[in-house]
Amino acid sequence: MLKRAMSKLVPQILRFESLPSTNLEAAQRAIEGAAEGLCVVATEQTAGRGRLQRQWISPKGAGLYFTVVLRPRIHQSSWPLITLAAALAVHEALLEAYSLKTDIKWPNDILSNNRKLCGILAETVDTTKGLAVVLGIGINLTSSAFPPELCEIATCVQLETGKVPNLEIILRNLIVALDLRYEMLQAVRGGEEIVREWSLRSSYASGKRIRFANGREVLEGTTRGLESDGALRVETAEGKIRIVRAGDVTELRTLGV
Ligand code: BTN
Repeated sequence: MLKRAMSKLVPQILRFESLPSTNLEAAQRAIEGAAEGLCVVATEQTAGRGRLQRQWISPKGAGLYFTVVLRPRIHQSSWPLITLAAALAVHEALLEAYSLKTDIKWPNDILSNNRKLCGILAETVDTTKGLAVVLGIGINLTSSAFPPELCEIATCVQLETGKVPNLEIILRNLIVALDLRYEMLQAVRGGEEIVREWSLRSSYASGKRIRFANGREVLEGTTRGLESDGALRVETAEGKIRIVRAGDVTELRTLGV
């Protein structure tokens, strides 16, 4: 029998009917000293948080709203890789549960048929036990998770699989996959391994025509792999390599003739 290496996450799951945000709840508990592995799950969020100060609409029972407290032992410069590891874990959990093959849009949106199925938000928190990370994951389970006007850009597990999603199965697979990827990240040369594995599962890693925007600048070019800290390399029309960090990436589709 295959023996697994010692698990680094000891999950303890707290469930709530309704919370403003599972990230906020987890952050509060981390500040009070919660151990690594504390997981917060809510049936609905009334003030769900997205990347770049956006809102994450979280109606009752329509999505998996999940946050885990992490106390990483790797250097802080590598912490951006945590969200890449989380994206890999979501990809694997959905593959395992529903044979659903998803794409990863840099840095960590999970797409199916070019529509967003899941978002990931990692936030750092200063706690009594040092700096911690609250890693939040929102997976759209049914189409009630997003307003109809977003149906061109958003999707859900039910639409993509044709099956009624089972939150408990997805949650279980997600925690197992997260545990493995987080352990991998913290191993020797783990960052390289996460970047390599992420790149194998993302059509955005290399050769994708994209537009990048971060509120200060807009940049167009072709993706040319990731830096060791997860930043995206983009080759511009002038042949220069630009390295981009926080911001939004959109695919530039070639117009057919
Ligand atoms: C994104 O903008 O793509 C990230 C969305 C992250 C949403 C999840 S839902 C669970 C957790 N709690 C939050 O308030 N946000 C994250």
